Amino acid sequence: MKIWAPGRVNLIGDHVDYMGGHVLPMAIQLGLTLEADRVGRGIHLTSDRENEPAVFGEAAVDPSVLQPPWARLVAAVANEVAHEANEVADEKGPIALTGRISSSLPVGAGLSSSAALCVAVALALRPSFGNGTPGSQLALAELAQRAEHAATDVPCGIMDQLAITAAVEGAATLIDCTTREVTALAIPGDWSIWVIDSGTRRDLRDSEYADRRRQAEAAAALVGPLPDATAADITAINDPTIRRRARHVHAESRRVLDFAGAMTAGDARVAGELMDESHRSLRDDFEVSIPALDDLCEELRSMPGVHGARLTGAGFGGCVVALADEGAEVPGTRLIPSGPACLRQ
Ligand code: GLA
Repeated sequence: MKIWAPGRVNLIGDHVDYMGGHVLPMAIQLGLTLEADRVGRGIHLTSDRENEPAVFGEAAVDPSVLQPPWARLVAAVANEVAHEANEVADEKGPIALTGRISSSLPVGAGLSSSAALCVAVALALRPSFGNGTPGSQLALAELAQRAEHAATDVPCGIMDQLAITAAVEGAATLIDCTTREVTALAIPGDWSIWVIDSGTRRDLRDSEYADRRRQAEAAAALVGPLPDATAADITAINDPTIRRRARHVHAESRRVLDFAGAMTAGDARVAGELMDESHRSLRDDFEVSIPALDDLCEELRSMPGVHGARLTGAGFGGCVVALADEGAEVPGTRLIPSGPACLRQ
């Protein structure tokens, strides 16, 4: 069998998914293909992005200690699938997968290579997930998210996984991370979306991702859900660091809805300004940018036909996303919105 799982770029709405805000990611043409057979017992996968294969037997393993590190994600997905299979009679059977992965997604660049891997392995182990209903898309995304938590201890939100499982070709995906409702929003025909790699890499396990999440949660413990808070609620937070984190989450979630409005109206100028504001907020209030990303955004904004640029994903390194007019020349990769992860044969 052959499985395709796209990566994603986030157009706007970072560090708000785990606080129940809105996000607007888009699945992209860069992704991974897993060619595998459900034969034998246990897992044996190779990847053209990794030197060592992911190999382990069927017995439950502690995913967080496996080597090489990417095998942790694979094993955590296998554990989740095995756990669910106990409750779904027609999915019982040994955990078995032998195959290879080829990928066009850079690892650690903010384009969701790990979520794509988890979703692809889950689909390979449990093809019935690929039936395309909203319920199965969400269940698959939630399984992949649980696996990522178990394998890495990074308390990621649901954005990446749902962007990959619920994607619609030609569109970005507006996600309400409280209700988990998804809405496909077509990309206007005269917009072009680009990803530009800063060349810096990060591993979220060594980053301050978990700290930022804790700080945002500390703010929510004081004033309630941050997307619904009032400006006065936020100003009243005493601790200046917690206040800035809260201000970002609150404003960023609102920006996503404004951006969605600009996208529906085809207003690239307003959308670009919102992207610039988003970057400033991630840089100054949430403090997840680095100078290489700031400089790149600055440079892009001065180019003809470019409306806005911001870091995309968790930050701390990786890529920048830019919105430009059709025909503009941008020194990066032009992104094409992709359909969802699926079985290809
Ligand atoms: C990573 C996480 C997501 C999200 C982004 C930041 O990509 O996996 O859940 O929190 O960072 O928006």
